[in-house]
This record gives sequence, structure tokens and C-alpha cells, in this order.
Amino acid sequence: MCGIVGFTGNRPAAQILIDGLKRLEYRGYDSAGITLAGKELITVKAVGKVRNLEAAVNEHGTLPNTTGIAHTRWATHGAPSVKNAHPHMDSSGRFAVVHNGIIENYAELKQKLEQQGHKFVSDTDSEVIPNLIAEFYQGDFVQAVASALRRISGTYGIAVLCSDYPDTIIAARHGSPIVVGLGDDCNIVASDVTPLAAYTRKVIYLDDGDLAILSPKNVELRTIENLPVEREVSSIDWDVSASGKGSYEHFMLKEIFEQPDSIANTIRGRLDHHLKSAILSGLGLSPHELAKISRIVIAGCGTSLHAGMVGEYFFEDIASIPTEVEQAAEFRYRNPIIDPDTLVLPISQSGETADTLAAVREAMNKGAIVAALCNVVGSTIAREAGRGIYLHAGPEISVASTKAFTCQVTVLLMLALMLGRNRRLNRDDGERLMLEIEKLPELIRETLKQAPVIEKIAEKYAYAEDFFYIGRGCLYPTALEGALKLKEISYIHAEGYHAAELKHGPIALLDEKVPVLALANAIPGQEKMIGNIQECLARKSSVIAVVTGDDTAADQFTGDIIRVPPSSRFIAPLTTVVALQLFAYYFARARGCEIDHPRNLAKSVTVE
Ligand code: M6R
Repeated sequence: MCGIVGFTGNRPAAQILIDGLKRLEYRGYDSAGITLAGKELITVKAVGKVRNLEAAVNEHGTLPNTTGIAHTRWATHGAPSVKNAHPHMDSSGRFAVVHNGIIENYAELKQKLEQQGHKFVSDTDSEVIPNLIAEFYQGDFVQAVASALRRISGTYGIAVLCSDYPDTIIAARHGSPIVVGLGDDCNIVASDVTPLAAYTRKVIYLDDGDLAILSPKNVELRTIENLPVEREVSSIDWDVSASGKGSYEHFMLKEIFEQPDSIANTIRGRLDHHLKSAILSGLGLSPHELAKISRIVIAGCGTSLHAGMVGEYFFEDIASIPTEVEQAAEFRYRNPIIDPDTLVLPISQSGETADTLAAVREAMNKGAIVAALCNVVGSTIAREAGRGIYLHAGPEISVASTKAFTCQVTVLLMLALMLGRNRRLNRDDGERLMLEIEKLPELIRETLKQAPVIEKIAEKYAYAEDFFYIGRGCLYPTALEGALKLKEISYIHAEGYHAAELKHGPIALLDEKVPVLALANAIPGQEKMIGNIQECLARKSSVIAVVTGDDTAADQFTGDIIRVPPSSRFIAPLTTVVALQLFAYYFARARGCEIDHPRNLAKSVTVE
């Protein structure tokens, strides 16, 4: 949520910062701004996309400044506007700050600072930071930033400029990620690695309470107590081109089509043909420790929550382990029952979602075994959990999550196989499941061939303002995920329901204007689903059916049929969701919606 980038080197910084913001735009796009360092700080801001900021910066002609900071915003305090866009300055104009996170004691700090003569111009909480730094400043930049941060409660990832130090950036972190990239003759800082990869592979992830002081040739780390500290240098392992759009019109479409490869990467090296099981070494649990797990609790939000709900079916069905799925925001407030044999699985693509992070901390504090399923390497959740399974989906830029979901479900299926084999699942059944998992990339490739059919159906239904998705078994959470995709990017009302639940209320909403997308795959429960489809037709709803292969079960009801390749019930959520992702994509495109940057959303939600 919100993106930060800062650059200090020996070449003009403005375009480097703009390019960095474009790579971070998926984190927020309400407004953007840039400050270039020098004896006088130069600040330019614009509402809307980074391209608006770029145009405003270009109006200034060539700007030679070689140090600067920039920000793309997802509004929390104050509407999207130029005055609320970052960077924020102190009232003397000496300091500029970009900030991610929320300052919880900002009202109290602001009141004090106003009494001390500081003037505020924005509605944001962030503006207290430069003014607080100015209040503590007596010529020592580091000292002033450290003193100010010690007064702040809440969360922050910041980068700060001071006009007295024209080639220095100070960055700091508490609860909102900051990564420092170590370049040749330049150093760069950002809220995630995406803008760094073009300049360096060597990065340092700051820990909470760290300060980094960057100049073109040097990076020094200190704590906010202003004591020296050392952190490990890690290396970025993905290709810069992976975070570009390639020849695709949108990141979302690119990421949907990447799924055969991303799933292949998730599986690679993790299936054991000898044991007919999976090897997930990041868990760091011996067979004996695995056998002691008596319960699983999964926590996540949005798409990751839906992946967890699919996983619940896997763990109970394949491994016979009682499993619960918890909306991560509820986890710590419900005071969950956790014992040392409970395995808690937080699921998060970004590894930064505030609610999921809070669940991780609560579970660890209660002594659970916590293993995180994250995509972003080095993310806060992955690091705090200490053990887990990386998805290896590659960078997911589209705000609407697609490939992360299928990789999450694939990991959950491998984990269920491993836990099942560790218990009652025999070698033959283990082998059958293992071979199905191995075939997944091929099955997803087959499903993607349906894109032209799905495109036509989506265009036909693009008039609809309401949609129902219905499913049963592990296609129930798949229906929830399909509906979430549609509402996120097409802004229409779409609801996922268990097919049996429809008649307990929501059926009242059905009529000829409300189509139903029914997941009628040939898996257990299909006959009941056919009955549910009849109920919808009787209320005059049009029905789109997802069916298995050349199954004719839905032919009598509808001509709008999406065919996914035959598979067991465990694989069906994966093939089916790919069809639903394509449907949402083409539907939104037909309505002319902004697909990669849907209104009001941000890629990683770092506020509770
Ligand atoms: O990064 P996370 O997986 O923790 O994110 C959780 C949700 O914010 C996320 O899945 C959101 O629902 C997506 N926009 C869905 O497409």
C-alpha cells in the first residue's frame, strides 16, 4: 500500500525515480510525487497515475539533481489530492518525507507541533514526520530523524531528504517494509524490490527499528537509538523482465497465461517419486514432528483466504487433519484455541498484509507451529514466521491476484499429500495424487485454450450489473474467488454462494437480469448442482456452466458452456479458477474498466 523509491548516485535522479514509481504503481495510484535534493528541495506532485506526475516533471525541463525520493499513494488520511500527495515537507521547507504506514499518535503530535509554530497544509498523518524531524534538528540529520522516530507510534517505512545534505537519503522502517539496493556508484531504496532489480541484485531488508543512511558510494545502518547495526546482504533471484508486461495488454492477462509456468516452478523439486509424497523442506519439520500435528488453522485475506478455504478440503479429505480457516483480521480478536500441536498456516502473496501479519504474531505468541505460505521472498510475514513454503510464482503485479492463488492452492495440495502420506494415505493413492499434481501445468495450458470461448461468453454477458457464482465442495471457495475477481476489476455486484445455500435467501434476488455462473464439473455433488441450476432457470436467470471435458450434463440448460479438462476433485478448483479469471478479465475489458489498477484497491494492504 503506497510505494516508495529513493535514488542517490552520479546521474540525474528524476527519470530513475519515475521509472521506479511505475514499477511500484501496483501498490497505489491515487496520486504521486517526487522531491529532488539540492540546496533547495524541488517537489512536484500530481493526482492520479504516475504518468501524470511524469508529465508534470517534464514541464520543468532537464533536472540535473542526482538524489531524490518519490511516492505513489493509496489514500488513508485525506482524499487523493495534490496537497495530500507525498513527499510532505516541514513548514521551513528543509525536510521532505515519503511515508508508508499509519502514524497512530499523529493528532497529538500535530497539536504540539502547531503550538511550536509548525504549519500544516495537508490532511495526512504523514506530515507530522518532517515537522517533528525539523523540531529536533540542530545540524545533525541522522540524530534528528532518529529522535523524531522515537516519538512516533504506529507503522512507518520512510525516506527523508534534507536540503543541508544534498546527496543523502535516510530511510527507516517500523512495520512497513524498506529494502536498500546496493549499486555501483549509486544506492537505491524502495518499499519492495521491484524497482531495485534494474540496478542491483544485492539488497538489504531493513528490520523494524533500523535506519539506513544512503549516499552515492555508501550505505550505513544504524538503529533509531542511533547505534551502529549490521544486516545480511541478500540477493534478488528474479529477472527484471519478469516484472514487465511483455506483449500482453495487461499484467492480469500476462499473469493468467503464466500459470502453467508458475505452477511448474511451485512444484519443481518438491515431489518425491520414491516416497510418493512431497518434500517441503522450508517447513523444517521431521516426519515425527509432522505426525504430531493434530489440527491446522489457516489465516489469510481476500484471495489468499479463498486459497485457504480450498486447502481446508484438502487437509481434511487427504490427510484427515481437522482444519479451520480464519479471516486473518479475526484471528487475534477471537482468541483462537491454539496448542503446541496446532499448525498455523498464514497465507499471503505479498507477505505484508497487516491483518495476516498480526495473526502470525498472535499464533507465534501462543506457541503454535507457524509456517507461512508467501510469494514475496524476504517479506515481513516470511521472515517473522521463520519457516514456511515459498510459492515461487514470480512477481505478481496485477492488483487482482491470479497466479498467486493457483500456486497457493498447489502448495496446499502438496502439503496435504505430504501430511497424508505421513499418516493414512497409502502409496497408491499418494502416487495417484502426486502424478495429478505433476500434470497440473499441462491441465492449466489446456484450460487456457478455452480463452476465445470464454471471451465470447464474457462479452455476451457484459451487460449484467449483478452476478451469482455457485459451487459445491472445493468448488465453493472457487466460486467465491471467481466472484471476487469479477467485482474487483469490473465493479459490478458479484456474489459467490454455496449452491445449496442459494435457496435459503439469495434466490430472492434472481430474475432474468441476474445471470448465474454454475460450477457443474463432473465431481461428487454434480447431480445436486444440476438440481440447483434448475432452480435458477425456474427464476428466469441465464446460466453459464463450467463443465468437465465433453460432459453433456449442462447442455439441456444452456449454450454458454466453459469446458475444463477432466481431473479429480482436488485439481478441479485450479483448472476452474483459471476459466473464472479469464471470464472476469474479458468481462471487465468489454466494459472498458481499468484492469490492472482497479479503483480503490491496492496490491498489498498494510493497514488493519
Ligand atoms: O498479499 P496477500 O495475499 O496477503 O493479499 C491479500 C488480499 O489483499 C488480496 O488477495 C486481495 O484480495 C487481492 N486483490 C485479490 O485479487
